[in-house]
Amino acid sequence: MDLTRLMAERYSVRKYSEKPVEEAHLQAILEAGRLAPTAKNLQPQRIYVLESPEALAKIRALVPSAFNAPVVLVFCGTPEACWVNPFTGHPSDETDVTIVATHMMLKAAELGLGTCYVCWMDNPKVHQAFSLPAGERVHCVMPLGHPAEDSIPSPRHTERRPLAETVTRL
Ligand SMILES: Cc1cc2nc3c(=O)[nH]c(=O)nc-3n(C[C@H](O)[C@H](O)[C@H](O)COP(=O)(O)O)c2cc1C
Repeated sequence: MDLTRLMAERYSVRKYSEKPVEEAHLQAILEAGRLAPTAKNLQPQRIYVLESPEALAKIRALVPSAFNAPVVLVFCGTPEACWVNPFTGHPSDETDVTIVATHMMLKAAELGLGTCYVCWMDNPKVHQAFSLPAGERVHCVMPLGHPAEDSIPSPRHTERRPLAETVTRL
């Protein structure tokens, strides 16, 4: 599908079918993330694929927006091992991870799978629940699966501001 159409048609899926995610599709989605650009190519992303009943129960209890997806991806970054802006001191790991996650979200959409970019959570609690390494920070979570038959976009999906409100040409 043409990329512009794919970006327009992708929407946040909040209800999933029970159909599992095919292994080849999961691998293709992970590969799309691997290809993403990161600051200074330091690749500080660390991705956890939650698919066991225990891990899914844990994430659903902590993050309501994990919904009923059969796979939940947890995206972390390593602030000590990423580029740091020398002017602001700001580490790039969250930006890097977001670009990786966006690549994966679009690949999933191309394969007919649904996702939702999720930040509404107590990040340190998620970190603790999965005993993640001390040098990693949780940035976002992404449910992944086949959309339920009656899944529909929320009204917000089509509410995009006109370019005139968000773009300034100087
Ligand atoms: C940084 C960020 C955080 C988000 N957090 C959540 C969330 O916690 N729960 C949720 O259901 N959707 C979340 N979303 C999805 C947005 O609500 C959604 O992308 C937006 O309303 C546009 O709708 P669409 O994705 O269907 O086009 C988040 C999206 C972004 C980019």
